[in-house]
Amino acid sequence: MALLTHGLVLSCSLLSLQCTMADYRIREYRDEDYEAVREMFATGMSEYVPALCVHVLKQPWVILVLACTFCVLLTSSKSLLLPILAVTLLLAMGRQLLGYFWTMYIEHCLKEDLLDIRTTYMGSKGSCFWVAEADECVVGTVAARPSDAQQGELMLKRMSVRKDYRGLGIAQALCQAVICFAQQQGCRAVVLNTLMVQDEARRMYERVGFEKYHDDVLPTVYGRLANVTISKYRYSVPRRS
Ligand SMILES: CC(C)(COP(=O)(O)OP(=O)(O)OC[C@H]1O[C@@H](n2cnc3c(N)ncnc32)[C@H](O)[C@@H]1OP(=O)(O)O)[C@@H](O)C(=O)NCCC(=O)NCCS
Repeated sequence: MALLTHGLVLSCSLLSLQCTMADYRIREYRDEDYEAVREMFATGMSEYVPALCVHVLKQPWVILVLACTFCVLLTSSKSLLLPILAVTLLLAMGRQLLGYFWTMYIEHCLKEDLLDIRTTYMGSKGSCFWVAEADECVVGTVAARPSDAQQGELMLKRMSVRKDYRGLGIAQALCQAVICFAQQQGCRAVVLNTLMVQDEARRMYERVGFEKYHDDVLPTVYGRLANVTISKYRYSVPRRS
């Protein structure tokens, strides 16, 4: 089956999807990809620490704490040096703390489905893992498995593209691989979650045709404190003709 979507012509074979516009190909995961896949996921996710810091800094309670610390120290010490040092220290500590929690989250994922990629994704009919390969290297990843929430929906996960290969349409081609797979499996929709700081990813998903249908604050203490919003997106899969 051939698919024409946003200028990309993809062969919808399960084993190999060849994109006509750039020198890369999309294929199923192999065991030798293991380290590259895990490395790409960790690198892609760690890019978001600065954006997360900016997001947390914009929270009203954070601004209030910083402003109060500054004012209290300014009036009590009658010097600018102490409040500036204290606020700088608080900001540095906050940055370290956020980095620490984010690294913990990445490590959690690496110990979850990415620990045994073959068993998690390649061992059952309803799941799959793909990589984009260029210059004999893995430059992109994406995974799909049945949604826990809704029967008949496929969850898109682990989308990542190496920095030096971005803007070439690789992520969109990876999305098409998942959509093709969903169609072959008879799924009615592909769903995914993104964080509020993943702007590039959101734009890319919307360009492919995903639509946002729900926003949720992460239901943990840290999630609520930092107002971490998870957006849920859905793509309605057309029936096979
Ligand atoms: C989000 C991410 C996967 C996008 O990867 P990508 O390969 O750069 O995405 P694409 O190239 O398919 O699309 C991105 C842009 O390139 C443009 N593009 C697509 N095909 C193109 C082509 N042939 N030539 C030039 N530009 C192209 C797209 O129009 C899009 O531009 P836009 O900003 O106008 O939407 C990548 O930034 C990433 O890995 N980020 C870190 C991890 C992450 O956030 N993962 C998502 C988790 S939900």
